[in-house]
Amino acid sequence: MKSTILPICPVFWSEDKVLLIDQTMLPHEYALVEITRYEDMAEAIKTMVVRGAPAIGIAAAYGMYLGARAIQTQQVDKFLIHLEIVAQKLRETRPTAVNLFWAISRMLRTAYKSVEPVEEIKKILLKTAQTIQAEDLQTCHKIGQFSLKALPNSPQKLTLLTHCNAGALATAGYGTALGVVRSAWTRGRLKRVYADETRPRFQGAKLTAWECVQEGIPVTVISDNMAAYCMKLGKIDAVVVGADRIAANGDTANKIGTYALAVAAKMHNIPFFVAAPLSTIDFNLENGDQIPVEERHPSEIYQMSETRLCPEGVDYYNPAFDIMPASLIDAFFTEKGVIKPNKLLRLKNS
Ligand code: MRU
Repeated sequence: MKSTILPICPVFWSEDKVLLIDQTMLPHEYALVEITRYEDMAEAIKTMVVRGAPAIGIAAAYGMYLGARAIQTQQVDKFLIHLEIVAQKLRETRPTAVNLFWAISRMLRTAYKSVEPVEEIKKILLKTAQTIQAEDLQTCHKIGQFSLKALPNSPQKLTLLTHCNAGALATAGYGTALGVVRSAWTRGRLKRVYADETRPRFQGAKLTAWECVQEGIPVTVISDNMAAYCMKLGKIDAVVVGADRIAANGDTANKIGTYALAVAAKMHNIPFFVAAPLSTIDFNLENGDQIPVEERHPSEIYQMSETRLCPEGVDYYNPAFDIMPASLIDAFFTEKGVIKPNKLLRLKNS
């Protein structure tokens, strides 16, 4: 593993192509993947080369541009028909993170409302993807700033627990939940972060831990089943997680295991916060029961590298996300401030 500090920008535009940090190779290798076709972007999202709700949205926005760029016609109506096909292919990659659908819709709306010739619309689409990316970076910084007011106000430095990876790798480059950790660290308010390893894909052990090591943030990796015990021992001051989709009533989908964490935090009277941009709120859904939960291939459970863990003849269930009832969440950290779950609707149309 390299010891130099590497830029943590999971998606970036370089001259005429997108470069993705291959998140399936971390922490062992920092490898970049070149993407020039929208079909390859769809595959990269599906296979989790790029992952994390805001990062998926940014990647899909660039995917829309790559798809638009390849469309040959100069007739706007035909161009839009082809662009819808590109959008559909990208939508079919992962179902839970609403940022994917949000970014695709924004790109489509931009194309539909443009009155320019096709070649100009293509340029506008590239600019829009870059804007989505730039806005996300700003948003995450704001989330981090606002969170400082709501984190426990203790004379001691805080120990925060997080789950999965909601860091720079999952966004444009700062992070939501890990952005909160970063903000607390730079203000001298953080003692340490506990990172759940996050079975079955180990985003905590591999990605969150890697990001922390890059920046010298003290990090303790625990396996998921240790979190409740750490709370009981008084090791955790607050829990901060990201989100993949938040329903209008505040019910929240995040990486599988988050629900158990929220239950354990409630049991131990530990504040539980969700850090997410407004693009993660799906006001079309009344509650969490309506959030589609992705199920992934069972090999994520029964296999580790090349080694099979379980005997033949076993059944599997592998939901990638779970849904926390809003009642377990103390507050949302957003770019508009710190919001209680029952006040979330106020953010609609803001
Ligand atoms: O399956 P993943 O790795 O895409 O899941 C990621 C998460 O669940 C994150 O916590 C969430 O997307 C928030 S990222 C800022």
